[in-house]
Amino acid sequence: MPMTREQAIEALRKQSDGDAGHDARYFLEHEKTRHGRFSVEAGGLFFDFSKHPISIPSLDILCKLATDLGLQARIDAMARGDIANVTENRAAQHMALRGGGKDDARKAQANRELSRALAFSDDLRSGTYTSSTGEAFTHILHIGIGGSDLGPRLVHDALSSGHAPIDVRFLSSIDPDAFERAVFGLDPATTLVFVVSKSFGTPETSLNTKTSIAWLEAGLDGGIGRHLSAATANGAAARALGISDDRIFEMGDWVGGRYSLWSSVSLSVMAAIGREAFNRLLRGARQMDEHFLQSRMDTNAPVLSALIIWWYRTICGCQSWATVPYSSHLGLFANWLKQLSMESLGKSVDLDGGLLGAPAGPVVWGGEGPDAQHAFFQLLHQGKDVIPVDLIAFAKGGDGEHRRALLANAVAQAEALLSGRDADSVRGDLEAKGVAQDDIARMSPHMVMPGGRGSTFILAETMDAAALGALLAFYEHQTFALSLLFGINAFDQFGVELGKNLARTLESEWTSGAGGQHDASTNALIARIQSIGDQ
Ligand code: F6P
Repeated sequence: MPMTREQAIEALRKQSDGDAGHDARYFLEHEKTRHGRFSVEAGGLFFDFSKHPISIPSLDILCKLATDLGLQARIDAMARGDIANVTENRAAQHMALRGGGKDDARKAQANRELSRALAFSDDLRSGTYTSSTGEAFTHILHIGIGGSDLGPRLVHDALSSGHAPIDVRFLSSIDPDAFERAVFGLDPATTLVFVVSKSFGTPETSLNTKTSIAWLEAGLDGGIGRHLSAATANGAAARALGISDDRIFEMGDWVGGRYSLWSSVSLSVMAAIGREAFNRLLRGARQMDEHFLQSRMDTNAPVLSALIIWWYRTICGCQSWATVPYSSHLGLFANWLKQLSMESLGKSVDLDGGLLGAPAGPVVWGGEGPDAQHAFFQLLHQGKDVIPVDLIAFAKGGDGEHRRALLANAVAQAEALLSGRDADSVRGDLEAKGVAQDDIARMSPHMVMPGGRGSTFILAETMDAAALGALLAFYEHQTFALSLLFGINAFDQFGVELGKNLARTLESEWTSGAGGQHDASTNALIARIQSIGDQ
């Protein structure tokens, strides 16, 4: 008989993993095969899950659940291009964008658009494609928000060297200062405005596009059409703005914005880092796709990682997990992952529209390694909430002394979270320092660390394009696997609509001077704003 979620939960609760004396410290001592069962190589990355407070019998239950829920068949169906986004009746073919998966027709379509974008990026880099003044372009103003911004911005920040022939500025916010800051020092004569919007109707992107076009018009003596390009699934709207077909790159409706960075959406990145590096990014992702599609549930890194997060969420009631890359190239990683995970998994109903009995996607947050240690690690080590963490590190690259110090910190944090520090050890240390007994009694409760706190350690050789591609694809697949475990749709995002619509209503009320229907709190807030500003 296939195991249901409810049966798995009951069986897992009986294991009492994570309870006092029954955490990874105990399992690492007593489970001889633990390291083999809890570590996986995938797409050039090494994953160590052994520090989580999950025993081998519990892992067996989790893997059986994955098998019995039919994860493999659902993964295969997505890869074939079947409808995975059931509410919107669409496929979810982000793998096709990088030549992965099993949907040959969409792979060919994606490859055509990718080749066009790469060719245009070559022309921008070489100066073959010139501006209306006959000059080579030096800057791209990349306009987009959410999935049309976070992925390309992350990859650009991670891989561009500072010596790129094309410099990219990203503009997502409609804060009036954001536009001024984005174009500061730019010359319209050498700037290409690249608009990324799957819908081409997102208000923030439309407003920023309008302002940017006005900026081009003010700075150029005609010919601004050469300064405009777009990636969109709504070619008609882009054409209506005067963008020529040659420079419109088509997005299929079968890719969600937050899964789209592998496509022409990243034209700005291609122009900055070049086609070889971009292709290495895609290759790395494809390797992870192959691993995801071909590995058994118990050796499948994205599935194992999803099972572990599902366990924390469902069995322990953990509300969040953190991600901490030890690389200055990945300072924007948490921002990208927040959208990927929370826009995909922040749902309350199952695939059939039934209310979920328990919360699904947890909060995802994080920050860059050494800085995070000095900011929020206190909470991870001593807070009452148990927050699992992904630590991401790179074994090679850069100055030896810096690299050693960085890696030592990454490994030490995982070790400290696991081992903790008991009262005897605290007392021993303070006595050795000659601290008075009264002070030891007063201080030691504050210095004890419970330990037994789980982390996943992800290790790659170097922080390069291939490793980044594999890492990002890993999290895409983990997100999908989690959606299957929770029984929800990872590919819609209706929750963002209401706020957008209300903003439109408010704006038009302010423009026309008409009062609207709002609750008392909102009315008071509007009155306050109007008494200060000029709305
Ligand atoms: O935040 C909602 C959302 O629809 C995201 O899913 C998407 O990435 C973003 O807005 C931008 O949408 P578009 O690419 O259509 O402008």
